[in-house]
Amino acid sequence: MADEKRHLNTFWNEIRRRNGVKCKSYWLCGLGGWVMGFISAFFGKPGIMACTCAVESVVVTHLNEQLFYLEHKQDCEAYEAVKSILDDEKNHRDIGCGEGGMNRLYAPFRFMISAFTEGVIRIGMR
Ligand SMILES: [Fe+2]
Repeated sequence: MADEKRHLNTFWNEIRRRNGVKCKSYWLCGLGGWVMGFISAFFGKPGIMACTCAVESVVVTHLNEQLFYLEHKQDCEAYEAVKSILDDEKNHRDIGCGEGGMNRLYAPFRFMISAFTEGVIRIGMR
């Protein structure tokens, strides 16, 4: 939670500094996160870890793509903001996947969570 709050502050500061606006999927992200957390909790720790594994795997891929994009834009501040959270997200992914999240029984659940997370990101980037 502390990591995610720090990430929120990092990005929010960058957005404000640029007079930017929240992305199109901001509310969908919050609602989706709540629903996914609620459903995952019914499966106990393995469900929560499978959800974390799926979400953070998509997030890490997305952040790496953003770093690649920003390298070519030569936007140092945005690049550093993304880079400063990447290791935390990799750590979240590794904990989720390593603490039972890769259980085969949860493969369909991980697939659905990954697809939803990917969709939310794509909507936000349109
Ligand atoms: Fe995270």
